Amino acid sequence: MRTQVVIIGAGPAGLLFGQLLQKQGIENVILEQRSGEYVLSRVRAGLIEEGTVRLLERAGVGQRLHREGLVHEGIEISFGGGRHRIDFRKLTGKAITIYGQTEITRDLMEARSVTGAPTFYEAPAVSLHDTSSERPRVRYRKDTLEAEIECDFIAGCDGFHGISRRTVPEAAIRTYERVHPFGWLGILSETPPVSPELIYVNHERGFALCSMRSQTRSRLYLQCRVDDNIEDWPDERFWGELKLRLDPSAAAAVVTGPAIEKSIAPLRSFVAEPIRFGRLFLAGDAAHIVPPTGAKGLNLAASDVYYLSQAFAEFYEAKSTGGLDTYSDRALARVWQAERFSWWMTRLLHCFPEDSGFDQKVQRAELEFLARSVSAQATLAENYVGLPY
Ligand code: FAD
Ligand code: DHB
Repeated sequence: MRTQVVIIGAGPAGLLFGQLLQKQGIENVILEQRSGEYVLSRVRAGLIEEGTVRLLERAGVGQRLHREGLVHEGIEISFGGGRHRIDFRKLTGKAITIYGQTEITRDLMEARSVTGAPTFYEAPAVSLHDTSSERPRVRYRKDTLEAEIECDFIAGCDGFHGISRRTVPEAAIRTYERVHPFGWLGILSETPPVSPELIYVNHERGFALCSMRSQTRSRLYLQCRVDDNIEDWPDERFWGELKLRLDPSAAAAVVTGPAIEKSIAPLRSFVAEPIRFGRLFLAGDAAHIVPPTGAKGLNLAASDVYYLSQAFAEFYEAKSTGGLDTYSDRALARVWQAERFSWWMTRLLHCFPEDSGFDQKVQRAELEFLARSVSAQATLAENYVGLPY
């Protein structure tokens, strides 16, 4: 088999990239190791920037997002028993949208099936060949058989644990990493949101985040130990702990109910450099990870594939390699901005086990500064709503 671009991974990065290529008339095949149902069952991101909304519109999947997404013009930061609102609209003129990653994925899968472009599910890529030549090849497994696709380019959109980044020789890649000493326990429940806007909580018992998916569905997170298991957190313990970390009025507004999904995610900062190797390009979590506190992971995946789709359009329409040559630097400049912000939000809001009394006092002073300084709030808002493209 032969195609122009083989995309490895049908997460948000791979599916959005495939859709942008379809719009540009560039032939592509997606290989995904899991089933479509499994990909749709992974509850993760929920918050998208205006730039990502524009990109999803451009990919032809904006309709349901505009109908069902919740537009939020601010967030609240809670500490010391009180809440402080950050007004994005006033400070930046922009807003953010709450719309689940599962819904974005579903919309992209449906749009792809309308175009008829091939996606092979339960078909893991097993090895990449000749990535520096003009005819790279991807070997993949389907059922018990192995097959090969020849292409012009390979897009490694296969997440942090995928094979694309790992096939690059060690000498050709440098990685930067920080593993944070805690995780996030997340639940989804059929209960109304704690408050109309998101609440990010700094508390001596640990961070908490009250988010949502709709007016009747909550998405809630608690900082937990890295070695905690789901079994350590029956529903009653989760709700009890959440209430302890919230201010009294938010705690009184909590409506409890059974968790319909529960998972633990480790917190990691990670960047690979460069993210282009001959005719192999990495995008999304395959190239970089941010801790979720700044809500940047999916938004970065979207900006990577936007730059890459522009570069491929230039290549196929104008025979120019300019965009391909600058992809890595352009995408990484944005990635490092998001890494810095995500690290800063994580540092500001979590309990670090190794912190001294001095560190804790400095953290509190920074929160108090943020609560009273309009320019500090504007800096947070500017980073949170996202950079322009
Ligand atoms: P993935 O979603 O990991 O997709 C990669 C795909 O590749 C997977 O389907 C995998 O099965 C497949 N794959 C792997 N190996 C192979 C192989 N060998 N062959 C074929 N396929 C393969 N981001 C935000 O922007 N906003 C948020 O609010 C937000 N909240 C988050 C909350 C939590 C708790 C977590 C954990 C993350 C959050 N994120 C958020 C981050 C966001 O979910 C990720 O950044 C996003 O999923 C990255 O998309 P991706 O397509 O790059 O990778
Ligand atoms: C959500 C996740 C985040 O990491 C975040 O910072 C905000 C919202 C969410 O899942 O809704």
